[in-house]
Amino acid sequence: MASPPLLLLLLLFLFPSSTVAQKRNTNITLGASLTAHHADSFWSSESGHFAFGFRQSGGGDYLLAIWFNKIVEKTVVWSANRNKLVPRGSTLVLTTRNQLVLNAPGGKLVWATSFAATNQSVSYAALLDTGNFILAAADSEILWQSFDYPTDTILPSQILNLGKNLVAPYTQTNYSNGRFQLAMQSDGNLVLYTTNFPVDSISQSYWATNTVNFGFQLVFNLSGSIYLIAENKTIVATLTSNNPPTQNFYQRAVLEHDGVFRQYVYPKMGTSNSSWREAWSQVSRSIPLNICTRISNGMGSGVCGFNSYCQLGDDQRPFCTCPPGYTVFDPNDVTKSCKPTFVSQRCDASSSPETENFEFFSLENADWPQADYGYFQPVDEDWCRNECLNDCFCAVAIFGDGECWKKKFPLSFGRMDADVNRRALIKIRKDNSTLPFPNLDEKGRNKTKIIIGSVVLGSSLFLNIIFFLLTLFIGYRFSIRKPKVVQVDPLMLDVNLRAFSYEELDKATGGFREQLGSGAFATVYKGTLDSVKDNNLVAVKKLDNVVREGGEQEFKAEVSAIARTNHKNLVRLLGFCNQGEHRMLVYEFMENGSLADFLFRPSKPTWHQRTQLVLGIARGLSYLHEECNTQIIHCDIKPQNILLDDSFDARIADFGLAKLLRKDQTRTMTAIRGTKGYVAPEWFRSLPITVKVDVYSFGTLLLEMICCRKNFEQETEHEDEMILSDWAYDCMKARKLEMLIRNDEEARSDMKKVEKLVKIAIWCIQEEPSLRPSMKKVVQMLEGAVEVSAPPDPSSFISSIS
Ligand SMILES: *[C@@H]1O[C@H](CO)[C@@H](O)[C@H](O)[C@H]1NC(C)=O
Ligand SMILES: *[C@@H]1O[C@H](CO)[C@@H](O)[C@H](O)[C@H]1NC(C)=O
Ligand SMILES: *[C@@H]1O[C@H](CO)[C@@H](O)[C@H](O)[C@H]1NC(C)=O
Ligand SMILES: *[C@@H]1O[C@H](CO)[C@@H](O)[C@H](O)[C@H]1NC(C)=O
Ligand SMILES: *[C@@H]1O[C@H](CO)[C@@H](O)[C@H](O)[C@H]1NC(C)=O
Ligand SMILES: *[C@@H]1O[C@H](CO)[C@@H](O)[C@H](O)[C@H]1NC(C)=O
Ligand SMILES: *[C@@H]1O[C@H](CO)[C@@H](O)[C@H](O)[C@H]1NC(C)=O
Repeated sequence: MASPPLLLLLLLFLFPSSTVAQKRNTNITLGASLTAHHADSFWSSESGHFAFGFRQSGGGDYLLAIWFNKIVEKTVVWSANRNKLVPRGSTLVLTTRNQLVLNAPGGKLVWATSFAATNQSVSYAALLDTGNFILAAADSEILWQSFDYPTDTILPSQILNLGKNLVAPYTQTNYSNGRFQLAMQSDGNLVLYTTNFPVDSISQSYWATNTVNFGFQLVFNLSGSIYLIAENKTIVATLTSNNPPTQNFYQRAVLEHDGVFRQYVYPKMGTSNSSWREAWSQVSRSIPLNICTRISNGMGSGVCGFNSYCQLGDDQRPFCTCPPGYTVFDPNDVTKSCKPTFVSQRCDASSSPETENFEFFSLENADWPQADYGYFQPVDEDWCRNECLNDCFCAVAIFGDGECWKKKFPLSFGRMDADVNRRALIKIRKDNSTLPFPNLDEKGRNKTKIIIGSVVLGSSLFLNIIFFLLTLFIGYRFSIRKPKVVQVDPLMLDVNLRAFSYEELDKATGGFREQLGSGAFATVYKGTLDSVKDNNLVAVKKLDNVVREGGEQEFKAEVSAIARTNHKNLVRLLGFCNQGEHRMLVYEFMENGSLADFLFRPSKPTWHQRTQLVLGIARGLSYLHEECNTQIIHCDIKPQNILLDDSFDARIADFGLAKLLRKDQTRTMTAIRGTKGYVAPEWFRSLPITVKVDVYSFGTLLLEMICCRKNFEQETEHEDEMILSDWAYDCMKARKLEMLIRNDEEARSDMKKVEKLVKIAIWCIQEEPSLRPSMKKVVQMLEGAVEVSAPPDPSSFISSIS
């Protein structure tokens, strides 16, 4: 038992400032002011942990800011004028007319607080020990607080309300608005976006809590946990937890200039050695984990500049590198792109392309997912190199798995990561001769005019412009040199999706006459468009349930996310209509209908065809989950959503719609999206919805494809055959797999493969999501790159814990 003096000591220790620290009156009275001058001039919080006032920036001008004042770094957590620094001599005054006003030396107003009209008037201001600067009425009611106007940082006890956002700084030292935003959207979703820098409008989301309709506030609580709560205060998403206590550590969470949201801690009793550490030093918990592979569409260049690529360092932080043959445009600002150091390839129809002067430098696991203008498959790497070498527009070729992309300048969203299963072939001039700009003196100038002219033309900037014009002018004529492999129309590849008017699509579909299919949220019509290659046919999907306020931008963002997918096993989006009430998507038409149309019919595909289809579907899904720009969870994999193209290859349809239907990828949409039998159990439990729901559906589909029957059939020979997934497991356990394929001679002669596929399927339909393999792993198992072990009973894990 603690004796009374000890208790007292303990109390003193726990509440030092309230009892022992000398009490300073930190109320700032009306009329008080600060002036920006040489030394930092500021008001301090009661304990001195925080300061509010002027801080001189590197450039010499001043930032009106709040910062941690007891640490060497003096880290800024808030600022009033991040985009408009003020010169020396500027003043801050707490006026008698209810406002805090920042004036430039001439008296010009730069910034002022503003709050809703009230009959209360400001009586005093104070910087609280939480780092919150407040203006309060006589009864201490808070009329304005800096916590309501965050910049890039939130602090313990701070709440981010609906409609508020954090904007990343431009660089580590330049606080002006940068290229990323964390938005607590009024629809309840917490989303990280790239912006259309230097404008603040959002471009592309790259992370979200998917809490539309129920997210309410982002809370940074006093224990250092950061989470999203619903209106009824239940936690709906946890961003970080298990942090060191705030009594002993300063904490802050900040959206940093690299687009990553990180939480930092700093020991209050720091030594001179101390520094901000990312919380949980063992496991990096940055959000998102790998920003390099996360951002790959929208406007702009991505995390790094154009022609640059992003990698995670050993410290798990992204960094940018120029490819070989390239150098940084502005050494002081790596986000500002790389430029070639060599003279570009001659691009002149009348002379031969300088193929002998160029070679490739290959970068493993690297890709620039956008900027493609040519796509070929199946081809080999030599073909791909040669194609790029002979094409003066081609800056880089990307090769992987029989697929080849040609990329043009400027290259955007570059990344290098073990997960990128592609090789970038950088085309560089052999002698890498740098731009031969002669250092001319005035006299020499006239003589060398012509030479300069041609040299300038050879330089990359000019060439880019001219390339662009050339492309416009000679466009199709230039593509006379047609390759023998399938070439996809470049129009369809690019961001430049066609935007159709309602009238155009009305005409194309003959007044929406011929239905191809319909579901709970959309109807698909057959249509004809002259601009579409080959057969002129398209499928027009009319969405019914797209209800969103001000969703124009978002609709386009989602649509372009779908459009940016590029895989041979996905149905390609050609265009869209977003006019008034009408939301429609225009897809290429699939000649051979859906897998459902012929899997369960007498004309079923052969065993060999089925195994090929399975591989195609798995690759398509793996791409959606892991390789494409924004991860896409399909949420409704079933035979009806697998279409067959003219060469009977599998093409996944309807992906990316979960988001468009505004339900995001949350369980609220089960009713619409999931289809019985294919729906993973976590939809019914309070488990997070991840890519593993698609793995589950794929498992069910795989069993159906092995057996050419539906998962659920009422009329079977034996009762225990009714549910295919149960029966398949029983057959496997009893070593009687041939039962599953009774009438299929071809499959019966390939029992090894049958066994492998059944095992994979049963791994996929494990009730415990973490036991299911990733689609990437599934592809590896199907391809034979990875052994398939014997799966457990799909429900064993669940029953053992419940
Ligand atoms: C600041 O002013 C308010 C209102 O006048 C008062 O209630 C409060 O005690 C003052 N705080 C300090 C530390 O003097
Ligand atoms: C304004 O003052 C009136 C009377 O003093 C009071 O009834 C009312 O609630 C006040 N309004 C606000 C917004 O404080
Ligand atoms: C910070 O970056 C912005 C955007 O590039 C630039 O306009 C501004 O001048 C920079 N500020 C400083 C102090 O360097
Ligand atoms: C609180 O709201 C969330 C989301 O709307 C809901 O899932 C949860 O059941 C609610 N909890 C209570 C106790 O009402
Ligand atoms: C902060 O949140 C965490 C996680 O929800 C919780 O365990 C902790 O008790 C909370 N702390 C406070 C002071 O509310
Ligand atoms: C400072 O850090 C170094 C290396 O991390 C360590 O060896 C040294 O003891 C530290 N000094 C203090 C005063 O903590
Ligand atoms: C080519 O570039 C490399 C490195 O970028 C350099 O070491 C080499 O000297 C260059 N060669 C020529 C001929 O400029």
